[in-house]
Amino acid sequence: MVVKIGYGAIKKRQMTKDLFDLPGPESNTLVGNLIDFGQEPLGFLTKCEREYGEIVPLRLGLTPACLLSQPDYIEQVFKDRLLFIKSRGFRALRTLLGEGLFTSEGESWFRQRRLAQPVFHQKRIAGYGESMVANTEQMLNEWKDGETRDIQPDMMRLTLSIVMKSLFNFDVSQKEAKVVAHALDVAMDWFDSKRKQNFIFWEWFPRPENVRYKNAIAQMDKTIYDIIEQRRTSGEEPGDLLSMLMQARDEEDGTQMTDKQLRDEVATLMLAGHETTANTLLWTWMLLSQHPEVQNKLLEELQDVLGSRSPSVADISRLRYTNMVIKEAMRLYPPVALLGREAVQDCQIGDYEVPAGCLIMMSQWVMHRNPRYFEDPEEFKPERWADDLEKQLPRGVYFPFGDGPRICIGKGFALMEAVLLLATIAQKFQLTLVPDHPIVPQNSLTLRPEYGLKVVLHKR
Ligand code: HEM
Repeated sequence: MVVKIGYGAIKKRQMTKDLFDLPGPESNTLVGNLIDFGQEPLGFLTKCEREYGEIVPLRLGLTPACLLSQPDYIEQVFKDRLLFIKSRGFRALRTLLGEGLFTSEGESWFRQRRLAQPVFHQKRIAGYGESMVANTEQMLNEWKDGETRDIQPDMMRLTLSIVMKSLFNFDVSQKEAKVVAHALDVAMDWFDSKRKQNFIFWEWFPRPENVRYKNAIAQMDKTIYDIIEQRRTSGEEPGDLLSMLMQARDEEDGTQMTDKQLRDEVATLMLAGHETTANTLLWTWMLLSQHPEVQNKLLEELQDVLGSRSPSVADISRLRYTNMVIKEAMRLYPPVALLGREAVQDCQIGDYEVPAGCLIMMSQWVMHRNPRYFEDPEEFKPERWADDLEKQLPRGVYFPFGDGPRICIGKGFALMEAVLLLATIAQKFQLTLVPDHPIVPQNSLTLRPEYGLKVVLHKR
């Protein structure tokens, strides 16, 4: 039989190269690169990029993998959500988040995204600004001049209560916020230990950490189901995300979301919507304390634009330097530092053949500190963003919120929140790092300071 192959196909065949013929780091016959990767993922990936370039073959256990650091390749993978689905590591979050926006795929993701999108419209989120500032000022009432404090739990509780109020119109008492924040914290620790073991221990096995994890989820679920129940019995329709999700009907069969589906979406937004913003602020405080000259410039701007009044959404565009501080903090310490996708079938990235099942890694940490795109990449210089650097960079270089159809739905919300919270706190307090307290970036799902962030508070 004669098989006709078109010119394009022949050309393509001649040009493609096997990804796994490329040079890469030495790997162990049994576990591949798992040990180096598991010990210090971001350091290991940075070394791979610096030594082997734009696409590096790896193997994690039995899983073929690669690291991409060529912006076009990264863009290609982000764009094609059907060919490149979320990686196994992210899918493991389904035990916590079920089939919410972050973890679902295909048609069910598309439907949920379409439903949720209007709530994140710029005009709409502007309405959340006031409660963001009010929540922050309430927290500051508890801070005392001269006090030494680990502000990690404060930032987590603050951003959690903001997301619950904004999206679900739910006023969390400090006690409830503490319960949920603690549950999510336990879940994140569990997830991290699972990641370190490459997801090979079974969650149903009654090991102490699994029991702690199950209990944490049960506690969180109770709070969420209480919120849903409260809404059903009150009959209120405040037009927030929860009521939109509760009212939505399937176009074909007219069914509404079950309580379980609602729970998954609420849990997703509570987790995705608070931990990342809290970490953004923690890293920003660390950097500001280490760079007094930046802090002074920030205060000058706050004084010029705001004087002694509280910030509002209308001020954000005038707080140019404050915006740049946040952008630069997210460059050096991206709250999400590593994203993974899995190829669902054999495919091509650039000229390279990639097998089905390959884990594709793209790291904000690696790209944001890449000397090819950033001058003095390790230095904290908010001024670098002054002339709209973000627009001049190729896509796939600076992506704290991901990119493509699955870009963070809360990007506008988070940027607004980070600027308002930073301004509100910096106006009233100076935060100075406690000298010997270790600050170690820990890359779990998000990049957080492993031992918290201890500071001394000075009232201004
Ligand atoms: C500084 C703060 C934030 C950062 C750095 C951040 C980062 C990210 C990133 C990188 C992704 C893409 C993940 C991937 O492609 O695999 C993502 C997705 C997502 N984020 Fe955020 N995020 C932040 C704040 C928020 C907020 C405030 C919310 C909600 C209120 C939110 C909700 C979500 C959701 C629901 C997704 C999944 C979107 C989808 O797949 O359709 N995030 N975020």
